[in-house]
Amino acid sequence: MHLPDYKEARTRDKRKYNRIDFKIDNNIEKKYEGKTYFLKTYGCQMNEHDSENISAILEAMGFSKVDDYNQADLVLLNTCSIRENAHNKAFGMLGRLKHLKSQNKGLLIGLCGCMAQESKVVDEILKDYKFVNFVFGTHNIYQLPEIIDDAVKTNKQQIEVYSREMDLVEGLPVVRSNNYKAYVNIIYGCNKFCTYCIVPYTRGRERSRKKEDIIEEVKTLVKEGYKEVTLLGQNVNAYGKDLYDDYNMGDLLEDIAKLKIPRIRFMTSHPWDFTDKMIDVIGKYSNIMPSVHLPVQSGSSKILKLMGRRYTREQYLELFHKIKKIVPGVSISTDIIVGFPGETEEDFMETLSLVEECKFDNAFTFIFSEREGTPACKLKDNITLKEKEERLYKLNEIVNKYFLENNKKLEGKVVKVLVEGVSDKKNMYFGYSDTNKLINFSSDRELYCGDIVDVEITEAKTWSLDGKVK
Ligand code: SAH
Ligand code: SF4
Ligand code: F3S
Repeated sequence: MHLPDYKEARTRDKRKYNRIDFKIDNNIEKKYEGKTYFLKTYGCQMNEHDSENISAILEAMGFSKVDDYNQADLVLLNTCSIRENAHNKAFGMLGRLKHLKSQNKGLLIGLCGCMAQESKVVDEILKDYKFVNFVFGTHNIYQLPEIIDDAVKTNKQQIEVYSREMDLVEGLPVVRSNNYKAYVNIIYGCNKFCTYCIVPYTRGRERSRKKEDIIEEVKTLVKEGYKEVTLLGQNVNAYGKDLYDDYNMGDLLEDIAKLKIPRIRFMTSHPWDFTDKMIDVIGKYSNIMPSVHLPVQSGSSKILKLMGRRYTREQYLELFHKIKKIVPGVSISTDIIVGFPGETEEDFMETLSLVEECKFDNAFTFIFSEREGTPACKLKDNITLKEKEERLYKLNEIVNKYFLENNKKLEGKVVKVLVEGVSDKKNMYFGYSDTNKLINFSSDRELYCGDIVDVEITEAKTWSLDGKVK
């Protein structure tokens, strides 16, 4: 049994990690043939991609997937810790599963993901959720076959959570949830330690995958007919820093662009590590999509400092305008937190004025949520929840206004869309434009998923656009 420990999770060192290649034990492979699993994923794209690996491991063990947890022999929750409501959702689901387990004693229940890395959560599970059969951390995915097999054989709760990454695992199997768009991890973990954020504790230090491994994976995807890759990391711009002296995100983007996959995206970019080379490469290659997610968090330099974001309002704006100037037609989206401890009305007004200046194409807005163990918990917070909610409301009104205003500029224009399927609206296809906007569109001819087509925009809405194939 390995329990999580925040003190250890906080440590960073320069130790070289070993690369280990995943292999499933012959005795466990296909051992659970005929059994079914239900996997619920909360949180970010990292977690979604982890779930693609977890599914493949379960399928290698013989489990097959079902979409209704009432029908499953194994229910696994891949959880997120980023804000309190993510926590509450997972605990709510555990409550429902407790009921299910009381009717079906043989049901296996597991919990993994970022919440598994929190000692408080694991303590609670040990104490009050004894019906949970196993818990494993974000660094322990490759041990899943043994963890489940031990839980079944011993009928005892298994907790396997390393607080720190031990190795970098390659060769995990994957069942991708989309046949045309694929996620590719390029860097794990985060060293930024923004004062509000739990991710550096739940995901460990920054570890880049070797460029050869990434390039090989993308080459395979091209061969398999994938049209789009999204390079993933909590901060992709830090790629390579821990591995190479003279090879960074700009170089990787360029090497991947040369593989001729039609569409490349990447997320998330921390403004601190955004190099000029990256901007040039994004502008130069037409298969790198002109769409950048550039979280700002706040428009006030005072609050940015308290958040430990490593840039000022002015530095953010300088970078923002540089990207806009060099990458033609680029869309920029962002994340914003309101109600951070110490945020005055003036600080909040600075966030609004920054939004007025940047006119973001998309924005994810949040009320600050206290995460235990992070430095922001110790800051004095004298803003009431009501004030925070009012700020969020005001902010949303303004960001929404600009989504619509930006979208309106596309009316009458032709955009390239990767066809993803038929939308709920009858006879309409849907897909995303180069600039990552959701487009619902009609077509006189039959289209296939994975096609990239020209769509003329007929009507702009706040969160999507309607159009017709040219
Ligand atoms: N690595 C990314 C962010 C990942 S988390 C980056 O640095 O840009 C996604 C978003 O969740 C963050 O950008 C932030 O806006 C929000 N977030 C993170 N911790 C939060 C907290 N404690 N309370 C509210 N929002 C938070
Ligand atoms: Fe969290 Fe900051 Fe790291 Fe993003 S960069 S994951 S917000 S600590
Ligand atoms: Fe959530 Fe962990 Fe992602 S906390 S946002 S699932 S890295």
